[in-house]
Amino acid sequence: MGTDLHELLRTLKVWDPETTELPSFDPATAPEEPLTLFTQWFARAVAAGQSEPHTMSLATADPDGTPDVRIVMLHGADAQGWAFATHAGSRKGRQLAARPYAALGFYWPVQGRQVRVRGPVSAAPAAEGRADLHARSTGALAAALTGRQSEVLGSAQELARASQEAWERAQRQPDAPVPSWTLYRVRPQEVEFFQGDERRRHVRLVYRRSEQGWARELLWP
Ligand SMILES: Cc1cc2nc3c(=O)[nH]c(=O)nc-3n(C[C@H](O)[C@H](O)[C@H](O)COP(=O)(O)O)c2cc1C
Repeated sequence: MGTDLHELLRTLKVWDPETTELPSFDPATAPEEPLTLFTQWFARAVAAGQSEPHTMSLATADPDGTPDVRIVMLHGADAQGWAFATHAGSRKGRQLAARPYAALGFYWPVQGRQVRVRGPVSAAPAAEGRADLHARSTGALAAALTGRQSEVLGSAQELARASQEAWERAQRQPDAPVPSWTLYRVRPQEVEFFQGDERRRHVRLVYRRSEQGWARELLWP
């Protein structure tokens, strides 16, 4: 029996009161720069029980401007920017080499919150990328060691073999180098905070980097 997608879509809600509590957000009391607000919202998403709040959409583009998007993990956010890690030879890595700009999107439905970050991207020094990788789990190292991300896979057996070898190596050599694994940072030019409102008077506060520091504006929802 086939699924009627449209019928199913009509049964679904966003911000169901059973699972969502929309907090009030007064942009007049927001901090002067976006990192502080991001850190506060992130901690509140964790406290509110949001699952996987550290996963984010990462948008990049081909050299001709064709957009692309996928999920990656947030590895940190500080004065240098929002960090994630991946293989330099992956599709996104090649896109970033040709066009070093990205956008990030976070969605924390338990509070009806969204955060968007845009800006130029740079690769962290290799030693920093190595330290970041080796501070993570054996599984993360094994996944990085498996390599060849975004290449065409010939068969599941090929992957099983490579993955098994990578696991054994990661266990044997916890500091095994993965030269293509790269820590990237998005240096924000713009960060937008969206707070959903049940009457759809959503609050959108955007921070834009200017010569004088951060300018703040509200946007129509
Ligand atoms: C929850 C989740 C977390 C992920 N985290 C990462 C990550 O941190 N780094 C990464 O390279 N891929 C991560 N991936 C896989 C990417 O979504 C993507 O499949 C992969 O990086 C290849 O993307 P590309 O072909 O555009 O380069 C994650 C996927 C999911 C679903």
